[in-house]
Amino acid sequence: MKVVEFIWYFFLLFDNLLVSCSELNLVEDYQKLTERSLLWGPYRPNAYFGVRPRIPHSLISGLFWFNSDNLENINRIRHYCDQSLDFQGFGWTKYDPRIGGEQIFKDNEFGIDITTNFVKNENGNWAVKVKGVPRPGFENKSTSIVFYTGLESESDEDMLVSVEGQPPNGFDKGETVKLIGISKDFGEFEVSINDGPSTNVHKKLNKRKILNPSIDPSKTHYVSLNAPNDNVWKAADIFNILIQNSIKELASQFPGSDINPDPNSLLSLRNVDGFEGNLHFVQKIFTGAFEFDIIFNIENSEKKYSFDKLGSEIESSLVQFDEKFDRKFQLQAPFKGDSKYEIFSKEIISNLLGGLGYYYGDHLVDRDSEFNEETYEKIELKGEFEGPYELFTASPSRTFFPRGFYWDEGFHLIPLLEYDLDLTLEILKSWFNLIDEDGWIAREQILGPEARSKVPKEFQVQSPKIANPPTLMLVFMNLLEKLKKEQFNQFGGIDEPKQIIESLNEFSENDIFNGESHLKHPQLLIDYVKKIYPKLQKHYEWFRKTQKGELEEFDRFPRARDEAYRWRGRTYTHCLPSGLDDYPRASIPDVGELNVDLISWIGIMTKSMREIAELIGFDQDAAKYKEIESNIKQNIEDIHWSEDDKSYCDVSVDENDEDIFICNKGYITLFPFLLKQIEPGHDSFKHIIELLSDPEELYTNYGIRSLSKANEFYKTGEDYWRSPIWYPINYLILESLQYYGQSFKEDEKLYQLANQTYSQTRLNLVNNAYKQWKKTGYVYEQYDDTNGKPRGAKHFTGWTALVATIMTMPETL
Ligand SMILES: *[C@@H]1O[C@H](CO)[C@@H](O)[C@H](O)[C@H]1NC(C)=O
Ligand SMILES: *[C@@H]1O[C@H](CO)[C@@H](O)[C@H](O)[C@H]1NC(C)=O
Repeated sequence: MKVVEFIWYFFLLFDNLLVSCSELNLVEDYQKLTERSLLWGPYRPNAYFGVRPRIPHSLISGLFWFNSDNLENINRIRHYCDQSLDFQGFGWTKYDPRIGGEQIFKDNEFGIDITTNFVKNENGNWAVKVKGVPRPGFENKSTSIVFYTGLESESDEDMLVSVEGQPPNGFDKGETVKLIGISKDFGEFEVSINDGPSTNVHKKLNKRKILNPSIDPSKTHYVSLNAPNDNVWKAADIFNILIQNSIKELASQFPGSDINPDPNSLLSLRNVDGFEGNLHFVQKIFTGAFEFDIIFNIENSEKKYSFDKLGSEIESSLVQFDEKFDRKFQLQAPFKGDSKYEIFSKEIISNLLGGLGYYYGDHLVDRDSEFNEETYEKIELKGEFEGPYELFTASPSRTFFPRGFYWDEGFHLIPLLEYDLDLTLEILKSWFNLIDEDGWIAREQILGPEARSKVPKEFQVQSPKIANPPTLMLVFMNLLEKLKKEQFNQFGGIDEPKQIIESLNEFSENDIFNGESHLKHPQLLIDYVKKIYPKLQKHYEWFRKTQKGELEEFDRFPRARDEAYRWRGRTYTHCLPSGLDDYPRASIPDVGELNVDLISWIGIMTKSMREIAELIGFDQDAAKYKEIESNIKQNIEDIHWSEDDKSYCDVSVDENDEDIFICNKGYITLFPFLLKQIEPGHDSFKHIIELLSDPEELYTNYGIRSLSKANEFYKTGEDYWRSPIWYPINYLILESLQYYGQSFKEDEKLYQLANQTYSQTRLNLVNNAYKQWKKTGYVYEQYDDTNGKPRGAKHFTGWTALVATIMTMPETL
């Protein structure tokens, strides 16, 4: 028996044991502990600091700030991540969704660095320490900082009120604002906001500068009002309106007054209309450095947070993070042991994790419109609301794309798989739950009004005819590979199930903390896969059915009669479904087109389905997938390999319906290689490696460029995928070089070239991302192939976070 089969055999054995050991309730225990561990988090990544639980309509909190020395600054509130604001970077230096972490905002314009330290525990409590440190020259400037918390709810019994009511002139120095509440989700709870240490300086004004004692900026201002469900997220806009109302009211109260009010006073919150309700604002106005804390405690819980111990809780949370990170993410030479790369990789992964969001709500779907396959013009989709749905997902960019993207998500999960496997499975499950009756998942997940507010109208509607690269399946396969390896390390050589039964009993909170429950307890994984499998099957069938390409109709007779594919929904200039929007394809779209990247994706999807079926012992399905897998490989050769171009290429037809190859060398033509659809030993490798290593084609000092420099479309049009360097594809290139590397050894020259290309490209990618991060404070969506300079969206710690994974890859082939 081969090693792999041997291990699968053991999984099946566990599976049978599980039935008889059901009293262990492993699955239920795991779920309960996981829900608790991941309940609260900064799951509103579009806000600089926004906390919510993974529960629809519940307690939503956040922070915002601005300089209040100038009235105009009310329009420059820092609440939602905005890449046009002048920051020297922002985001997490350390963060783990099970522990908490530290975030820094380097606000150049207002001359202040703000730090938030967020901690949480498995009892469902959390706390945050907020600190501000002015830059030199800004010591006398005032910072107005607002914490808000609003209880959304579907139950009349839920409520949240201030213990002290609303003192009309605010709270005095040193006083804590205390809110108490009750919620159907977590019972009685308390939110307290202290006034920080005595070193804090509240903005003091001469009495003459204050029109009304209720807007004395040296006080802590507190106001509550009523905000319906799905409105608390607009807290900064609501704040803005409250301030405008207050100013209007003052103007009418003091017509023609010769008092010249200070902006800090006018920008102090007060309750003109005597509102009271579920949304609460606490505003503080400081001069110079400041610090204060916010604590959330569930009444009926152990391990409550307290103001006096918060400092040490924060310290130990950061130590915990460092330990987990060092154990999970081991950099390889030459980055290993170099603290500057360690800091970099921690920050990158922390920001990927900090992009995790929980979304709930409806989205717009157009199930009727057909694409015109005569004119290939862009059609306007008309959506109807469907849902509500929920999704737990990472995001490509907190400033630019704070929502779920199907194509990006698989790449987000590759590093997370190393860091916290259980978390990765939670995210995958959340995505797979969205697979509808037909097997479709919307490629962009814009759930609820908060997410929708960030998307222009014309991009809000999703169509069930459109696919997107199935990267989630790629992750699933990586996961199974990892599991085989780990299980082999753990159980290799053990031939007695007795020890396995013992391992069932050892299920602990520590496994949850480390995100390793599914590794230590394979029966958890089997249960997971069994639940998810029917959905995956539907999704797979939907993919093959809706994106099918034509064969007989165009007199094409490859070895396999059924495997050819075409992305639906392309236009003359774009193939958005492919994910590589403007990458050059056949210049005239045609129903006779066949896409080499798509067939490769379906190939890897099939492989993944086979491995999943094998894991749960669905042998007939596995055999069916195996056959499709090999058919696809044959057809990639028969249909897509162009002997003249020495490349895998798209196929289309000319005006006489004769086949023509469309060979724009670059990322698209690499796909059979990137997704491991080529059999080792194939002649094509030589041409692929030459393409990758040639500076006149794809090689650059900053990574592998998207389109060959020799191509006629190089750097033309939008130049989105026509030259820049993209990290996810570069990761796949390195990974495939590793995968095939040993098979090149028969050809010494080829091996040398592949090794050199691999080693140097890995260095180039890390060095350039690091250099640009150092310079600007951010990682980016893409990088220029001629000078390595950043391009596209800032703060792109979505798939560009793969640079951290690249640092963990071997130094050479
Ligand atoms: C801040 O105010 C103090 C006291 O008025 C003054 O001595 C100092 O020069 C000011 N600093 C700046 C940077 O304006
Ligand atoms: C692979 O490339 C690296 C970097 O150029 C080099 O140090 C190493 O010796 C090479 N390995 C082999 C086996 O050629």
